[in-house]
Amino acid sequence: MPATDLDQVVNLCKRRGYVYPSAEIYGGFRSTYDYGPLGALMLRNIREAWIHSMVQMRDDVVLIDAAVLGPPQIWEASGHLANFTDPLVDCTNCKTRWRLDKLDDPNTCPNCGKQGTFTEPRQFNLMFKTHAGPIEDEGAVAYLRPETAQGMFVNFSNVLNSTRRKPPFGIAQVGKSFRNEITPQNWIFRTREFEQMEMEYFVPPADSLKWYEYWCTERMNWYLDLGVPADMLRLRAHDPDELSHYSSGTSDVEFRFPWGWDEAEGIAQRGDYDLTQHSIHSGEKLDYFDQATNERYKPYVIEPAVGVTRLFALFLLAAYDEDVVNDETRTVLRLHPRLAPYKVAVLPLSKKDTLTPLAQQVRKQLSQRYMVDYDETQAIGRRYRRQDEIGTPLCVTIDFDSLDDGAVTIRDRDTTEQVRVPIESLLGEVGSRLGF
Ligand code: GAP
Repeated sequence: MPATDLDQVVNLCKRRGYVYPSAEIYGGFRSTYDYGPLGALMLRNIREAWIHSMVQMRDDVVLIDAAVLGPPQIWEASGHLANFTDPLVDCTNCKTRWRLDKLDDPNTCPNCGKQGTFTEPRQFNLMFKTHAGPIEDEGAVAYLRPETAQGMFVNFSNVLNSTRRKPPFGIAQVGKSFRNEITPQNWIFRTREFEQMEMEYFVPPADSLKWYEYWCTERMNWYLDLGVPADMLRLRAHDPDELSHYSSGTSDVEFRFPWGWDEAEGIAQRGDYDLTQHSIHSGEKLDYFDQATNERYKPYVIEPAVGVTRLFALFLLAAYDEDVVNDETRTVLRLHPRLAPYKVAVLPLSKKDTLTPLAQQVRKQLSQRYMVDYDETQAIGRRYRRQDEIGTPLCVTIDFDSLDDGAVTIRDRDTTEQVRVPIESLLGEVGSRLGF
């Protein structure tokens, strides 16, 4: 049964090395987080699962990696300097600060309960401003990107020229984005520093709706393929008053978080908004010339955009489970094997030196292909429990018989079923159980 209690997952993450509060020895730093040894591996797996589906398995999408720091011109053109704002109100009674559009009741302070104590809303720009170079004057102003998307638009011609693509084609990117959120909340769900995976899919304008529907379906299936239960997911179209300044239609993939349905990912129809804006502001053409029809046009854009760190919370919440094995309650993360930090744990039955050389040999063999954990301390039952709790799909146990018969035991995380296999067929057996 997936978790409904966020604290259980947060505690597990802290205890086992998935996520730590940042700068903790100094009392923490305003809802920023550090990803520990398991967290760093899982972040990498989430990125790889996305790149695998969005780039590797397709022949129409390329990957780029653009700069985080950018000049004001980009954000002037994209509309972020003027429009990327949230309405901020202060409670004059208890001095707390709120995002007006996120309040259930826009008159009552959720903290002190008083009515009519809010200041007039002020529009607060969410971009982090800094200076590039040693002189802090207007000419040196730079911004940390609030979305990776603009990297794809400003490189549209570069990619077109260097790859000879033609619409429909996509440019994808994975990387950090920064937003000075007024109310970061719900652990890593909304933070000021986060990571995004976005893909701008450029299509002939007449085909835009067809591709929008295609990407909505495609993206929903990605979650299902990675083991997220269907009843925890839904696709919700935005009301017109929710749309971003660039969008003519957006649907969110929503997940049933412990606090209710909330956005995991947005799939937006950006039309030719961005290419037109950058074309006006830069003086570059930024369009596509179709030699077959002799036509020049600005492609429309469909954009699936998701946060890596938000997905991290989503996958852990969906995977968290408790069940009873041999009259004992265990915590188990039923993570999809592609997402699990370690795919296999190699566990010599005893710490005796006699087993170590063979166990290390097995570890090395499996490590050629998979991220492997090695653990030789404590009773075997406790070690299984530890691996269940961090989501390792398979444990391989080396016992004293292994020295004679050259076979080891594979234990499955979800069923706890055990089978004995010869070491020479271990790699193949592990591969077929993991599915890759
Ligand atoms: N380029 C479009 C764009 O950035 P968005 O809906 O603002 O659209 C896309 O962001 C995704 O990025 C969101 O669906 C969410 O998964 C993630 N995201 C946005 N702001 C975030 C934040 N402050 N913390 C964590 N993830 C965030």
